[in-house]
Amino acid sequence: MDHRTDPFLRVVDNELTIPGISGKYVFLHVSDTHICAWDEQSAPGEREESEKREQNWMRQKEAFAHDFGEPFSDAQRIPTTRGFEKILRFAKEENPRALLLTGDNLEYTHPAGERFLRQALQSAGVPFLCVPGNHESEALSGVWEPGVRVLDCSGFRVAAVDDRLQTVSAEDLDRLEALGEEGIPLIVMYHIPVSARANREEMRKYSVYFSVDDERADENGKRFVRFLETCPAVKMTLCGHIHGYSDTEISPGKRQITASQGMIGFVHRLTVRGE
Ligand SMILES: [Fe+2]
Repeated sequence: MDHRTDPFLRVVDNELTIPGISGKYVFLHVSDTHICAWDEQSAPGEREESEKREQNWMRQKEAFAHDFGEPFSDAQRIPTTRGFEKILRFAKEENPRALLLTGDNLEYTHPAGERFLRQALQSAGVPFLCVPGNHESEALSGVWEPGVRVLDCSGFRVAAVDDRLQTVSAEDLDRLEALGEEGIPLIVMYHIPVSARANREEMRKYSVYFSVDDERADENGKRFVRFLETCPAVKMTLCGHIHGYSDTEISPGKRQITASQGMIGFVHRLTVRGE
C-alpha cells in the first residue's frame, strides 16, 4: 500500500536551518518500535514471551497515544514487526540521507528480534544510524556499536550517543566534547530526552524516569545535559523514550524533539538546509 494512503503511517515534518551548508538533507527519525519477534529458530519460550509482550503493547501503545492526544485507530493495531516493515518501505521510497532510530528498537534483547532487525535494516538498503534504548543492550553487531558514532554530511554531522542508562560514559562524553570543539554543526541523537534549565518544566511532566535531568542525574548525566545546553556546535537533538511527540528548547533556539511511537506509525521527517 502506498504510504500516502496507508493509515498506519503518520509523517511529521520538521526543519532545521544550518547557515553555510549547501543543498538539502532529509532524515527520517523513528523511535520506540519495540519489536517483538519470533521465527523458526526461536528457542522454546521465545515465541511465548514475544507474544505476551506484543499483546501488552497492543494495549499500552493505545494508552500512550491517548495520553498524548495522538490519533489511534485499527490501522495501528498491527504487530510491531509489520509496522516496522511498513516504516522501512516508506523509508525506501523517501530515500533519506539516513534513517535515524532513537532507541527501544527492540522490545527486549532476544535472538529472533536481533535477527529480524538486522536483516530488515540490511535488506532495506537505506543508510541508518541507530542508538540503543533502555530496553536494549550496549551493542548489536551490524546495527549499533558501543561508543559515539558519527555520520558525516557536508558541513554538519549527526552524532549518535548511548544514554539508555540515564547517563553517558566518561569516554563518550570526552569524545562528544572533542567533536563539539571542532565546531562543525552537530545534530545529536540519543534515546532518553534531557531536562535542562529551559525545558525542565515541560520534561518533568513525564516523571523522573523519563529524562536525564540536569539536577537529578549522576555527574556524567549532568555533564551530558550541560554539553548539549552550552555547546554552540549542537544545533538540534533527536530522541524518543516518552512515547509521544514533544518539541522543546534545551536552550534558546536549540530544539530537542522526542519522536512519538514508531510502533503506531510515526515517522518524523527532518529537512536540513542552509539559509
Ligand atoms: Fe520505549
